[in-house]
Amino acid sequence: MSIDDLANALDQTGGGAGQEVVRAEGVDVFRWSAKLNRRVYLLEGIDWLVELGQHWVVLGPNGAGKTTLLHLAAADSHASDGTVDVLGRRLGATDMRKLREDIGLVDARTSRAIPPRRPVLETIESGAFNSIALQHQRLEESHLSRARELLTTVGLDDLATRSFGECSQGERQRILLARALMASPDLLLLDEPASGLDLPSREQLVSALVAMAGHDPSLTTVTVTHHLEEIPPTVTHGLLLRGGKVLAQGTIEETLTSENVSECFGLPIEVGRRSGRWSATIR
Ligand SMILES: Nc1ncnc2c1ncn2[C@@H]1O[C@H](COP(=O)(O)OP(=O)(O)O)[C@@H](O)[C@H]1O
Ligand SMILES: [Mg+2]
Repeated sequence: MSIDDLANALDQTGGGAGQEVVRAEGVDVFRWSAKLNRRVYLLEGIDWLVELGQHWVVLGPNGAGKTTLLHLAAADSHASDGTVDVLGRRLGATDMRKLREDIGLVDARTSRAIPPRRPVLETIESGAFNSIALQHQRLEESHLSRARELLTTVGLDDLATRSFGECSQGERQRILLARALMASPDLLLLDEPASGLDLPSREQLVSALVAMAGHDPSLTTVTVTHHLEEIPPTVTHGLLLRGGKVLAQGTIEETLTSENVSECFGLPIEVGRRSGRWSATIR
């Protein structure tokens, strides 16, 4: 199956059985600024619905609130106002740690937390219980074979025994992706997974994301980025953020228009799509 066929198939199945994976209603996130002596809004009036099997991209300039929004979906923080339900559980009224076991997260914070000397295969295995610590005593044969399988999925068979710290940035991102998939999450969240990658590494990461979406049609993903070129062809929906507010959201075709993206980044941008991949050029 070509990448285009896969993208088309996912377009048609996007939405799955209509099961809700993330529902945010009237969400504000604010912090108190002692300096300004007032609230500073990181997110304001967010309504968002992510359904089973959909693949979302969250796009916006630096400081738009993308990471803040992803941390809500990751059950890592609470809304100041409004309600957030993740996998049918209401944040603030559920055991967040337990909920996080069903969510995979690839972000810079996790990457920094991994001991650099830990071998690649063990780094992937540590994702089994969604903890940084390796819980050797809880690992079973099935975990070990899944870790090997994921190593192959992300194309890193040769690196099983290399230490995480000695891997390139591109390899590390793919290791983190495999690690996040160890616990078979229902929801996979990626915060700028291609940042700092060269072109071949970025393309390998995109291929790994496409392969993964193909393996499991019930997997739901949200990818945060500010580069259209990094959007995998499997993406079905988009949300544009600017200044903590939703500027546009919906299916990827109706959201990623030149008009919306120009307004989002405050620049006249021409959006293109070729063979399922997106591009942006300044007009
Ligand atoms: N704890 C905090 N207190 C005050 N402002 C914050 C805090 N965390 C983030 N911000 C600010 O909120 C805005 C949104 O941050 P973030 O969600 O990280 O944006 P993005 O990921 O889109 O770059 C930024 O301007 C950031 O500086
Ligand atoms: Mg961010």
